[in-house]
Amino acid sequence: MKRKKIVAGNWKMNKTFQEGIQLADAIVTQMPLTDVTVILGTPAIHLKEVGNRVKYFSGIHIAAQNCHAEKRGAFTGEISTEMIDSIGAEYVIIGHSERREYFQETNDLLAKKVDAVLKQGLIPIFCCGESLEIREKNKHKKYVKKQLQEGLFHLKAKKFSKVVIAYEPIWAIGTGVTASPEQAQEMHKFIRKQVADQYSKKVADKTSILYGGSVKPANAKELFGQADVDGGLVGGASLKANDFIEIISAF
Ligand code: 13P
Repeated sequence: MKRKKIVAGNWKMNKTFQEGIQLADAIVTQMPLTDVTVILGTPAIHLKEVGNRVKYFSGIHIAAQNCHAEKRGAFTGEISTEMIDSIGAEYVIIGHSERREYFQETNDLLAKKVDAVLKQGLIPIFCCGESLEIREKNKHKKYVKKQLQEGLFHLKAKKFSKVVIAYEPIWAIGTGVTASPEQAQEMHKFIRKQVADQYSKKVADKTSILYGGSVKPANAKELFGQADVDGGLVGGASLKANDFIEIISAF
């Protein structure tokens, strides 16, 4: 079974609504014929209209960047999986390191968010990855293993098989420093092994594991060429249509 190849853009808190629509239109205009699943992770405000712009392209999907764990209620300022689903988004980025760091999202909370996303029939893109400090202490494998165990491995195999994993070493995010293809491959192989040990080799072989952290046109081909790298979660370079298209074309 071939794994899904995915290039997902994470726009983070960038682009006004108008700029976002322009970007989506530019991506659609330049979109190559490809078997890569393309996902646009836009700010919540942009999602519905970006969805309208890409809806005739079966290979382009939209993602929210976060959600609340509860279905609805008195949680001012939050968005629910039900809302995300209701505007046609199919994916939700969960546990991005920026959410973990700046919004104190713990593995326990993320496990609840993962449950909420799956319950709504949406697909979580579950982020994991270590800081430079942890890597320098050579504890990165242990750390990422714990993130997987506490955030994802409570799922039964059937539910887990829907999940997309993104490995994003924090030291490579927005820094221009990319993990080398060998470093990325080593961690992706390690993550796949954890999935195989928890579930089965069959489940692990079907799980798409994306790399994130300073992916750009110049390094995408080499990263995506690694056996266990099934695509990318792209921040900065997803904000420029040309760069994002080049990254998609790098497969
Ligand atoms: P950059 O590509 O800007 O390093 O961001 C990566 C990221 O955090 C994607 O989620």
